[in-house]
Amino acid sequence: MSQLAGKKILLGISGSIAAYKAAFLTRLLIKNDAEVQVLMTPSAASFISPLTLSTLSKKPVYSDVSGAEGWNNHVELGLWADAYIVAPATANTLSKMASGQSDNMLTAAYLSARCPVFFAPAMDLDMWKHPANRRNLEWLESYGDHFFNVGYGELASGLVGEGRMAEPEDIVAQLDAFFTKGADLRGKRILITAGPTYEPIDPVRFIGNRSSGKMGVALAEAAARRGAEVDLVLGPSALQARHNNIRLERVETAREMYQAATNLFEHCDVAILAAAVADYRPSNPAVEKIKKKREEMSIDLVKNPDIAATLGKSKKEGQLLVGFALETQNEMENARGKLERKNLDMIVLNSLRDKGAAFNHDTNRVRILHRFNNKTDDFELKSKADVAEDILDTLLRDYLT
Ligand code: PMT
Repeated sequence: MSQLAGKKILLGISGSIAAYKAAFLTRLLIKNDAEVQVLMTPSAASFISPLTLSTLSKKPVYSDVSGAEGWNNHVELGLWADAYIVAPATANTLSKMASGQSDNMLTAAYLSARCPVFFAPAMDLDMWKHPANRRNLEWLESYGDHFFNVGYGELASGLVGEGRMAEPEDIVAQLDAFFTKGADLRGKRILITAGPTYEPIDPVRFIGNRSSGKMGVALAEAAARRGAEVDLVLGPSALQARHNNIRLERVETAREMYQAATNLFEHCDVAILAAAVADYRPSNPAVEKIKKKREEMSIDLVKNPDIAATLGKSKKEGQLLVGFALETQNEMENARGKLERKNLDMIVLNSLRDKGAAFNHDTNRVRILHRFNNKTDDFELKSKADVAEDILDTLLRDYLT
């Protein structure tokens, strides 16, 4: 049975050509036995008739805060709903919601809603990319709201690019998954390391690596969405962590990451080490910029502390330690070696030989090896957000229940 059965869904529709998809979405939600209350911005009615939506949802459609439908309705609706979906969400409506405006039923209900809120943005590709719009999305995510990814393709303007509203079938599938998982990590404290480390050679140069932080940040956001309290120790990365349950500590060098992780480990239930930590650092970083005087030069390196191995030694009963292995050859053998040497419970193997996997890609392909048996879980190439869900699902299935 669908997890949407019996759920009370507020569906907010704003004025976009993609509003026609809201009719399909309403129908699909009703087919899944959800109860749907449609709210429309005044301009949405230019794109789709309220009559169509009230017929599909079997309820009157609300639009005006001060209209005949009642002054206080937005408060009641905000309390009534199990989820609020805004689809399509235009740049204008997203901007109003990000800044707390409440000049129509849709935006007023948003401020009153105590349920999870989901946005399915729809707009032209340049609007989608504009820094003002990006900032609004970041603000909304920082309030704990969720987004359905926009699609790529031909847009109403005739331009081709990102900005198409997600398909109703995908929205329903993701909502169903959301209600299935709920807050299954509530009460857990999870430490995550992510990103590269930079080891200074002199004040302007460093030894680093190609990690972007995407895999670790995806893990932090997925765990936070699922109710965990997350400590994210992030090396130099352009990414932000966007969830209220994430406490972010930014570090630069392996030794700083070591310090932060070892301080936080004692109080966590699970540590997931997705960072690509430099194994060595220059032994004597120059105080001033090194001048180009010699034809050749060499840099002496010393070993950095191994965070995973240190946490593996101090791990207490009931704590779980998950590592990553980034390999280019003899993948399984090397990963199992690390699993045992560092006293990990689970290791997530990604290989640079797999196209679209590991460093910097938005996708990854992983295999998960377990300490307690010789079993391996093999996953397809998928988005790092979905890989993060797979890793957390595996932890819950095999260790946390
Ligand atoms: O950040 P992205 O661009 O999204 O890329 C993701 C990733 C490829 C960096 C990530 O998926 C990944 O594989 N991270 C681990 C990379 C790595 O350094 O692997 P390793 O095989 O060298 O290390 C094994 C484990 O020991 C890792 O969990 C690592 O975090 C940990 N380690 C290593 C060295 C060290 N000094 N301290 C550590 O804790």
